[in-house]
Amino acid sequence: MVDDTCFFCKDILVVKPLKKSRMLLRTAVLMFSMACSIFIFSVCLKKISAHARTKILELNVIEKPSQSIVIPYLHYPEPVSFSRKECARNPVLFFAILSNQRSGSGWFETLLNSHINVSSNGEIFSVIGRRKNASSILHTLDKVYNLDWLNSASKNECSAAVGLKWMLNQGLLEHHKEIAEYFDHKRVSVIFLFRRNLLRRMVSLLANSYDRYAKLLNGTHKSHVHSAEEADILSKYKPTINSTSLLDDLKDMEIRAAKVLEYFNNTRHIILYYEDLVRNPNKLKDVQQFLGLPQMELTSRQVKIHRGPLSDHIRNWDDVNKALKGTVYESFLEADY
Ligand SMILES: *[C@@H]1O[C@H](CO)[C@@H](O)[C@H](O)[C@H]1NC(C)=O
Ligand SMILES: *[C@@H]1O[C@H](CO)[C@@H](O)[C@H](O)[C@H]1NC(C)=O
Ligand SMILES: *[C@@H]1O[C@H](CO)[C@@H](O)[C@H](O)[C@H]1NC(C)=O
Ligand SMILES: *[C@@H]1O[C@H](CO)[C@@H](O)[C@H](O)[C@H]1NC(C)=O
Ligand SMILES: *[C@@H]1O[C@H](CO)[C@@H](O)[C@H](O)[C@H]1NC(C)=O
Repeated sequence: MVDDTCFFCKDILVVKPLKKSRMLLRTAVLMFSMACSIFIFSVCLKKISAHARTKILELNVIEKPSQSIVIPYLHYPEPVSFSRKECARNPVLFFAILSNQRSGSGWFETLLNSHINVSSNGEIFSVIGRRKNASSILHTLDKVYNLDWLNSASKNECSAAVGLKWMLNQGLLEHHKEIAEYFDHKRVSVIFLFRRNLLRRMVSLLANSYDRYAKLLNGTHKSHVHSAEEADILSKYKPTINSTSLLDDLKDMEIRAAKVLEYFNNTRHIILYYEDLVRNPNKLKDVQQFLGLPQMELTSRQVKIHRGPLSDHIRNWDDVNKALKGTVYESFLEADY
């Protein structure tokens, strides 16, 4: 009698003289069962990596921003380039927006700067000399937080929050130790701004770097636009995405975000997502509260470039679709914004 719940056992366990054909069959069955276990193993792996991913994202969502401002976070700078006059007694909060290119940070910063009491000084560290080493970075930050960094964004003596926009690839990760120490010592508050849909971010990155030389708007390269017509012209270019490296590229982006969250975990911070800012105007109230500002209606003239389904914006949509279907990134194919 053969126990028929054990399908492979009868070949493997029953010992008797074998004919050649039986030997072949046995090999085939063995190979088949090996292939099955490899398949099951790879499915498990995918589950594990899906689990790891959601864990990173959950942390971001669950973690409540430390909203209440305690006195050490309020400063009274004495700039050398001008006098704060009657506002010298108004406290100032120091902040830094940590973000990635094409994650809505340009738009977000114009919103912040529409507040009468905010001076957000842009991507100061896009200039390589300023991020050459940790000491040149800290020296630059000193100047910003002392209100002595003068550009079109610096408001007036009555700034209640002063800061800058800083991309992860502008020396921030390399010198994270010194910068985090500085932020803690100087009581700088951090605004993390991420984009959930990294595939949309990738489209925007590729299109923007294409326009750097194509200059689709009458021979001028523009990273941000102010009209629907300009947006339509720029979005006519459909980038091709490398579907071979796509999964690894998306994973890399996530890892960088997770790293920076870890490095600046002990700094007072709030985590924002571009998609939430677009959908929910109340998020801007949270930001103003986080920065200790009087609430105001914030405005920006910037217009979104890539609207509508992603399939309209990617040249090799079928390949990309195939590469992401059934993976943890599948939702990027559907989600708007
Ligand atoms: C950092 O770079 C500046 C020039 O940008 C240089 O003068 C300074 O010596 C450097 N400091 C260190 C510690 O390397
Ligand atoms: C904001 O700016 C206005 C105008 O400059 C000023 O009157 C006011 O005191 C400032 N508010 C704060 C909280 O600094
Ligand atoms: C490009 O130039 C033409 C003619 O000078 C003008 O009519 C048009 O509005 C310009 N388009 C953009 C997007 O600036
Ligand atoms: C796509 O990525 C793969 C793997 O990283 C690389 O070998 C290949 O050269 C890339 N293709 C293009 C067109 O860049
Ligand atoms: C941040 O630190 C807290 C406690 O120090 C820890 O529980 C949490 O997991 C950390 N978060 C990240 C993203 O590293």
